[in-house]
Amino acid sequence: MEIRFDQMNCVVTGGAGGIGLATARLLRDSGASAWILDREAVSEPGIESCIVDLTDDRAFANVLDAIGQVDVAVLNAGICRPQQLEETTRENWQATLEVNLSAVFFQLKELAIRMKQRRGGSIVITASTNSFDGEAGLISYNASKAGLMGILHTAANELGPYGIRVNAVCPGLIRTRLTEGAFGDESMIKPYFGALPLGRGGKPVEVAQTIAFLASDMASYMTGTSVFVDGGQMATKFGTWGSLDARFESGEWKLN
Ligand SMILES: NC(=O)c1ccc[n+]([C@@H]2O[C@H](COP(=O)([O-])OP(=O)(O)OC[C@H]3O[C@@H](n4cnc5c(N)ncnc54)[C@H](O)[C@@H]3O)[C@@H](O)[C@H]2O)c1
Repeated sequence: MEIRFDQMNCVVTGGAGGIGLATARLLRDSGASAWILDREAVSEPGIESCIVDLTDDRAFANVLDAIGQVDVAVLNAGICRPQQLEETTRENWQATLEVNLSAVFFQLKELAIRMKQRRGGSIVITASTNSFDGEAGLISYNASKAGLMGILHTAANELGPYGIRVNAVCPGLIRTRLTEGAFGDESMIKPYFGALPLGRGGKPVEVAQTIAFLASDMASYMTGTSVFVDGGQMATKFGTWGSLDARFESGEWKLN
C-alpha cells in the first residue's frame, strides 16, 4: 500500500522548518502540488513558498484564492514561549493564543467555506501532547494546544456531513528549531527520554508520516481524532519533580 496525493493541492502552514517542512516534502514526494505558507521563505525544489503572516486572516484567504481548490491543509504553524505561570505576560499569552489557536480557527473557517462548496477535503491540525498535559512553564502554549481540541471536535462534527475530515496529530518532543535548546541540554533530555518507552526524541519525518496518513484516503473513516506521535510518552507518567528543588521522603516528593 502506498499513500499518494497525485493531482492534489496540499497546503502546509509553518512549513519553513521542522515538522511542516518534513510534511511538505513527503506530500510532494507522494505526488502532491505542495505549498508552504510561512512568515519565512523556503527554497525547496517542487514546493511553492508563500510568505504570509498567518495571523492575518485576509492574507491567508488571498493565498487560498490564488491556489484554487485545496484538497489537503495541514495547519501546523506554532510558537512556544516558555514562562512560569506567574511570570507569563499578557504579551506572551496573547501572542501564543493568536498564532496557535485563533489563527488556526480562522484558517479552518476559510477552508470550510471553500471545501464545503465542493463537498470534500482533509485537514490535519498539529496539536501536541501538551493539548492534554500540564507541562510546567508552558501555560500559554498548553492552553493554546488544549483549545485546538475544541476546534478539532466541533469542526469534525460540523464538516463530516460534507465529506470533510478534520484530524490532529499530537507530537511529543521532536527535534526542530523549536526544541533545539532542549536537545542541546543533556541534563534535560537524559531524564526526559529516560521516561519515554522508546528512549529518545522524535524526528520531524516521524510526525510527517502520521500527518500524511491522516490527510490521505487511507484514513477515510477517521475524523475528529488525535494521534499521538510521542515515543510512548502519553502511555507513561510525565515527570515534574526532577526539575524542582525537592526530595523524595516517606513515599512522596516534597519541596525543600
Ligand atoms: N517540536 C516539538 O517537539 C513539537 C511538539 C509538539 C507540537 N509541536 C508543534 O508542531 C508545530 C511545528 O513546530 P516545529 O517544532 O516544526 O517548529 P518550527 O519552529 O520549525 O516550525 C514552526 C513554524 O511556524 C512558523 N510560524 C510561526 N508563527 C507564524 C506566523 N505568525 N506566520 C507564519 N508562520 C509562522 C515559523 O516561522 C516556523 O517555520 C507547531 O505547531 C508546534 O507547536 C512541536
